[in-house]
Amino acid sequence: MSRIKIFDTTLRDGEQSPGVNLNAVEKLEIARQLERLGVDRMEVGFPASSKGDFEAVKRIAETIKETSVAALSRSVQSDIDTAWEALKNAEDPCLHLFIATSPIHMEYKLKKTPEEVIETAVRTVSYAKERFSEIEWSAEDASRSDLNFLAEIIEKVIDAGATVINLPDTVGYTTPKEYGDMFRFIKENVPNIDQVCLSCHCHDDLGMAVANSIAAVENGATQIEGAINGIGERAGNASLEEIVVALKIRSDFYPYTTGLKLNEIKRTSNLVAKLTGMHVQANKAIVGRNAFAHESGIHQDGVLKNKETYEIITPEMVGVNVDNLYLGKHSGRHAFKEKVKEMGYKLSEEKLKEAFQAFKSLTDRKKEVTDDDLFTILMDVQIDT
Ligand code: KIV
Ligand code: ZN
Repeated sequence: MSRIKIFDTTLRDGEQSPGVNLNAVEKLEIARQLERLGVDRMEVGFPASSKGDFEAVKRIAETIKETSVAALSRSVQSDIDTAWEALKNAEDPCLHLFIATSPIHMEYKLKKTPEEVIETAVRTVSYAKERFSEIEWSAEDASRSDLNFLAEIIEKVIDAGATVINLPDTVGYTTPKEYGDMFRFIKENVPNIDQVCLSCHCHDDLGMAVANSIAAVENGATQIEGAINGIGERAGNASLEEIVVALKIRSDFYPYTTGLKLNEIKRTSNLVAKLTGMHVQANKAIVGRNAFAHESGIHQDGVLKNKETYEIITPEMVGVNVDNLYLGKHSGRHAFKEKVKEMGYKLSEEKLKEAFQAFKSLTDRKKEVTDDDLFTILMDVQIDT
């Protein structure tokens, strides 16, 4: 089994979802949960893009200690300087530098020749290396780039100091076979590639982001990037929860492990949905409301006889509690306290009182208080500080 790193970009690429705008307190709350989930690195913003994002990145960098914190930067010195100011107090900071490498992006967006793009990439990686020891370098629109050009620029940025090479499918255009072939080509044609971590980053425009990410891993990628609930630009990023659970459930087929605590998945999904306002569709794999619901008589009958007839993932594995302590309008403070403990939260007496009151008023309106409802109450109580 080889260990695959998980790079979470919910708070950067995920936050680029139309209509989503998280403030620093909300970002920090999600960052704490991502730390609990056990991602290897979290990309939390683009400091040069706004003062608010700068402050959010800085605050997270100063708070999160167990997980590496990354921030995005264009290949310009002023962006790198701003990112350093935001990240310098992080325990394990990482700069994420990107520049486009496809003919269409170089000609129309950057208005640079391929030689100028190589020069800019090498110069900015070398400049960043004066401060950052960890530098992820991304070839934006890699999946529509010329493979020989990609191999040439990658070799040079590794020599300049990049420690992670990321090959994004920026526009969600590739297919599993094509994307996998690109990774194999880079593994076979870049002499210094084994010095770095090789990363994939997929968008879901054609609904293939998860399959493409897994194809990349099968062809040499050692890091997967994605977002919780698959949020992000346009159709979104690869759904991290789908990838890690697929690798786990089909470990007979995929010899890879990740460091994620799978039973923190549902809680993370709920928090991201609540704070971004991007609700999860009911039939979404792993985290949708119906992901474990069996409706037809034949299925229900089968599951009652043996769960494995129709259930390939247990709800408990991903943190969905189906038969845990039930709370309703007759539940008292003691049961409520136990439940909060069971859900993994520690609240002060004052916060507990506040949460209990919110719970009681909800039971006046709602017969059945679900774990999702309680989670929302607990998040409100923690965030309103
Ligand atoms: O999709 C993309 O190309 C990106 C880059 C900034 C890495 O998000
Ligand atoms: Zn992206």
